[in-house]
Amino acid sequence: MTLERIEKIEVDATAAIETAPGTAELEELRVRFLGRKAELTTILRGIAELPEAERAEVGAGANRVRKELESLLARRAAELDAAELESQLSSDTIDVTLPGAPARPAGHLHLITRTTRQIEDVMAGLGYRVIEGPEIEHDYYNFTALNHPPGHPARMLQDTFYVVPPGSSAPAPSRKSDRDAQSLPRSEPGGSVWVPDLLLRTHTSPVQVRAMEAQPPPIFVIVPGKVYRRDSDATHSPMFHQVEGLAIAEGITLADLQGTLEQMLRALFGAERQIRMRPHFFPFTEPSVEFDVSCFQCHGTGELSGGERCNLCKGQGWIEVGGAGMVDPNVLGFVEASGYDPERVQGFAFGMGVERMAMLRHGVPDLRRFFDNDVRMLEQFS
Ligand code: DAH
Repeated sequence: MTLERIEKIEVDATAAIETAPGTAELEELRVRFLGRKAELTTILRGIAELPEAERAEVGAGANRVRKELESLLARRAAELDAAELESQLSSDTIDVTLPGAPARPAGHLHLITRTTRQIEDVMAGLGYRVIEGPEIEHDYYNFTALNHPPGHPARMLQDTFYVVPPGSSAPAPSRKSDRDAQSLPRSEPGGSVWVPDLLLRTHTSPVQVRAMEAQPPPIFVIVPGKVYRRDSDATHSPMFHQVEGLAIAEGITLADLQGTLEQMLRALFGAERQIRMRPHFFPFTEPSVEFDVSCFQCHGTGELSGGERCNLCKGQGWIEVGGAGMVDPNVLGFVEASGYDPERVQGFAFGMGVERMAMLRHGVPDLRRFFDNDVRMLEQFS
């Protein structure tokens, strides 16, 4: 009786296993025929209770069928695995020539670069050429030829980064409290004293002199670039950017400077802007001015629509933009050999900070954020 059941199980299971359509179905068959609750398993578990005479035969039969089914299952599993792999391989072909996904964003120019280029564009439209100069500069171009007297405060160690050539010994770094006592060692006959000559330029103005050495008048150039000062707070960074302008020809006047600044600042801040010049002092211009643009937030009134004080111009109605003036004849004297006769040609120069312009136009409260490399900040200006 039991033997007949075993044979019936063998026939049914064999047929089912051999025709199982997939691995999932095959697993179901394994549970059905060999699982803990399967009939064959129950028979095997009950052998001890069978009458003595049947035990050996039923035990042998059931074990044979179990082994047989196990090997059938394994064979069918291998067949199905192979077939499934085959169909997967033929259906999902990968095109290795497709670009990686998702495509990387292309990025964009830094706000400082963009602002610099906008200024260049306006000035190129007025006929100026864009030129550059070295960031490591000689004392001569940065100070001497720009009419800075020997004891000028900007020449001091605590304001300017000097470059000490290998092999020479520099004075110990100054502390703030030394500020008044500190002055630069100058060259001495016999010369064991370090003579500060190379420095990180403190402004783009030295390129005025370099440009004039390189070409005779008339000259109209604009000079963007990095400059360096010992300064660091929310509105000062040890490295920042300036744009310098220089125009030298016959008969150029302060009125030309006024008109040029007006064109430039209207292009950048809006066609209705006014500009004004205030007397100031720079060693390399005479007269010298600082120039302001009428506030583009309160339109020069100093008040916002609600009546409160304008925060951008601090209620002044004007925003300071940069320094300028008529190029001092003493500066032209340094490049006279290149054709700049102070009796014949004259002109103006101006300089302004790019970060400051960008901060004003976009309401950035801290200049250092431009250089933190936090793309969440920089992406706002794409
Ligand atoms: N070089 C000056 C500075 O960094 C700015 C400046 C003032 C530039 C007057 C000029 C100028 O060309 O004429 O503070």
